[in-house]
Amino acid sequence: MTADELRTKILDTASYLRARGVKDPEVGMVLGTGLNDYSESIDDALIIPYSEIPNFHTGKVDSHKGEMVFGRRHGKNVVIMAGRYHYYESMDIREAVFPTRVLVELGIKRFIVTNAAGCVNENWHPGQLMIIRDHINLSGMNPLMGPNLDEYGPRFPDMTYTYNKELREKLFDKARKAGVNVVEGVYTMMSGPTFETPAEIRFVRTIGGDAVGMSTVPEVIIANHAGLEIIGISFLSNMAAGVLDQPLSNEEVTEASKHVYNDFQKVVDLAVEL
Ligand code: HPA
Repeated sequence: MTADELRTKILDTASYLRARGVKDPEVGMVLGTGLNDYSESIDDALIIPYSEIPNFHTGKVDSHKGEMVFGRRHGKNVVIMAGRYHYYESMDIREAVFPTRVLVELGIKRFIVTNAAGCVNENWHPGQLMIIRDHINLSGMNPLMGPNLDEYGPRFPDMTYTYNKELREKLFDKARKAGVNVVEGVYTMMSGPTFETPAEIRFVRTIGGDAVGMSTVPEVIIANHAGLEIIGISFLSNMAAGVLDQPLSNEEVTEASKHVYNDFQKVVDLAVEL
């Protein structure tokens, strides 16, 4: 696909969504595995299933809703992706980040990205929320490979200040004051769909990773390219492979999300309000 073809698709999809009533969103959000219920807290919600949105691909994991929700929260216009596409689904990273490209085109200023992740840091435990300070991309790909869309950002974007420092420090303080035991750390992306091996987790820990997952980094790269304010929140759903002598499963991840949901909602609300 050429840059022009991709740009045309983005513009077509954005026009469709504007015609459906998605107007002037300020905050864009992606909800991760087990965390999709947050979209139910939106006022005056306009719900658009991905299957109705042109150029969206519709593959989804069961624990994801697969719909866009637009409405108000804490006085702001918020557009939520309840369910995301993963690189491992199609192996086409441009498809996986297409919804984020559309959020950029719709004009969001702040991008709040969430995920379930394995806990690599042995001082922490499942059920905690981690505000993302930085990331390591071990997926082997970068969603900006291919022709650059100069309308959105430069060919060689800086990644030094990707996760907005001021916002994450404020969020950390407010979350702690609200009684949520948040931590701050480095998210590491692996391609999936296998969970990692114990040796891979030891490697991730050695290079400075605190959490590991199969998403988020591609969307963040797109949002950073376009200069958005980015806040990342990982819900630590399980100890990463090999930390405990037991296997990992997707059921464990979705089950754990139910217990942390109240804290998650509080922290995401704070991130919208900031
Ligand atoms: N590894 C990768 N992705 C994940 C994990 C994990 O341990 N937990 C939730 N998503």
